[in-house]
Amino acid sequence: MLQLKSLLLLNSFFFTNHCITDVLLSPPDITNPTEAVTLYKGELDFVVKCEATGIPKPTFQWKRNNQDIPPSSYITYDANTGDLTFKGFSEREEGEYRCYASNVLEQTTAVSVSQPVTIKKYRFLRPDSNLATEPVSIKQYDYVKLFCKKDKLEVVAESINYNWYSKSNDMLSLDDGRLYIDQNGDLHINYAKTTDASDPFGSKCGLSGRSSANIVFGDAYNLYVTPVTQIPGQAPVLKWFSANVVAEMSHSARLECVFSGYDPMQPLPTITWTLDDGSIISTNQKYNVSSNGRSLIIYKLLEQDERNYYCKAKNNFGESNPHQVFLNVTSKPIFYENKAPRDVTVSQNKDVTIPCEARSASGETPPSPALWYVNGRQTGQHTNRNKIDVKANSLTIKSIKKPDDIMCVVCIVSNSVGETMGEACVNVILPIDLTQPVNANQEIALGDFIELTVLAKTDISQQLNYKWTHFRNKNDLVGEEPKFTFYDPVTKMAYINTFGMSESEFESVGGDYVVNISHLYDYRIERIHVTLQDKPAPDDMSGQSNLVPRILYFLTTILTLFFSL
Ligand SMILES: *[C@@H]1O[C@H](CO)[C@@H](O)[C@H](O)[C@H]1NC(C)=O
Ligand SMILES: *[C@@H]1O[C@H](CO)[C@@H](O)[C@H](O)[C@H]1NC(C)=O
Ligand SMILES: *[C@@H]1O[C@H](CO)[C@@H](O)[C@H](O)[C@H]1NC(C)=O
Repeated sequence: MLQLKSLLLLNSFFFTNHCITDVLLSPPDITNPTEAVTLYKGELDFVVKCEATGIPKPTFQWKRNNQDIPPSSYITYDANTGDLTFKGFSEREEGEYRCYASNVLEQTTAVSVSQPVTIKKYRFLRPDSNLATEPVSIKQYDYVKLFCKKDKLEVVAESINYNWYSKSNDMLSLDDGRLYIDQNGDLHINYAKTTDASDPFGSKCGLSGRSSANIVFGDAYNLYVTPVTQIPGQAPVLKWFSANVVAEMSHSARLECVFSGYDPMQPLPTITWTLDDGSIISTNQKYNVSSNGRSLIIYKLLEQDERNYYCKAKNNFGESNPHQVFLNVTSKPIFYENKAPRDVTVSQNKDVTIPCEARSASGETPPSPALWYVNGRQTGQHTNRNKIDVKANSLTIKSIKKPDDIMCVVCIVSNSVGETMGEACVNVILPIDLTQPVNANQEIALGDFIELTVLAKTDISQQLNYKWTHFRNKNDLVGEEPKFTFYDPVTKMAYINTFGMSESEFESVGGDYVVNISHLYDYRIERIHVTLQDKPAPDDMSGQSNLVPRILYFLTTILTLFFSL
């Protein structure tokens, strides 16, 4: 009778379990773009994609410079696909674009915001095509620097190649390094030759981007070189170096030193680069000393690369003093480890704290306090303070509920270099609840058995795992896997059957049986204390006769479970 009752009870729990209307939900999660990018667009018509996952399927909106995009024939976006389409793209549409992916839940809408996509018109233009020409007179063997006269040019590109050209637009040969073009495009002639002044030289700097077909020219020079009768010999003298080089972490930096000094035996001086401790820098994975030593490229910048570098030059006439070149390694705010907002999945009723703690590169002004956005809207007067607690370095959502508190939170921190954005989309799932009360204290006699089954339910998105541990006594800290007579991983049915056990085996059955019911994001511990009945059951056939109906009971229960599932 008792068995039948518990059977029905168990069944009814399964029945209610099936009736709970739990829905699968997840906040929008933008999978593209995931990093801040700048696009230089040469074409007129193109599409920028925004992709997001989420349940239900998100819809999309794009904003430009944080403003809604007014309808026009130049920019449109598709709320269903996320495609942002440009037609006849020009400077007019340049700006910082962000995609907003929205998931409509019951009463609320969760909104995820993408990293910025900055779009610029790729261009190499010289609006006025009349080149001015400036005369420059020098002596043979002298050093001269010609500036790349870029003022009249309009150039917007991810990278610019500088070359120098003759009057008839032929690219000048750098003559084995006698000529050197620095990172600003300026031309250094280490020692002039009379042939540099070919009738007239008319030399000019030319800028090009992805394709050398599209070159724009700066204003030109006419170079006049006066021949000398005596070949000079001079020790190296620093003529120019790259001052104030500021480069971002993980990027590369180029430091440069240009020395004059003509030696007939060795026309170009030997340049060496050293560190503070005097150690010589040579080309390897980290450094590249090139262009006859005039250029030192440092790859994958780290904060400790911010330091002094020294260049010096030598020939048979003498050696220059070491010249100090400082490299400033800087960065947008950098999140401290584990202090960036991250997507989280949390069981209902818990509090969730989203961190946002960042620093600047070492020695630089700390970032501004974080600006917080909840579902795409900046926090402020309207923010419900009972639900959301905003601090400088964190935001806490209190007693989170499904589905209303499924949301995305953005923080933005900025410094003099730029801004860094982090986003945490918070998914709320139903907690792990027991489907029937647990009988936490049970007694057992030798030859008898007891049921330990603990059944729980949780969010529809999660699969529960049951892990049992048996602690024999209070001092037992480690516990062991319990030796159940029967445990079914499918139905989660668990019980102890002591039939046929020796008395000493039976002695070890008592203690705490602990089950850890867990899924990816949460767990729940249930404890059942089993005490042994003082007097063991008499060693006769009664134990056996008892067993048969009990086994039958379990078989029927399992069958019922299978039918109800
Ligand atoms: C060093 O830099 C020069 C100029 O940028 C480049 O051509 C060369 O391949 C680089 N060498 C190495 C070893 O990286
Ligand atoms: C490096 O550059 C940053 C950004 O321009 C500036 O704030 C900082 O003061 C510079 N550091 C040094 C040591 O010059
Ligand atoms: C329960 O199991 C989960 C998942 O394996 C684990 O993270 C958690 O620490 C366990 N809890 C205890 C108290 O053992």
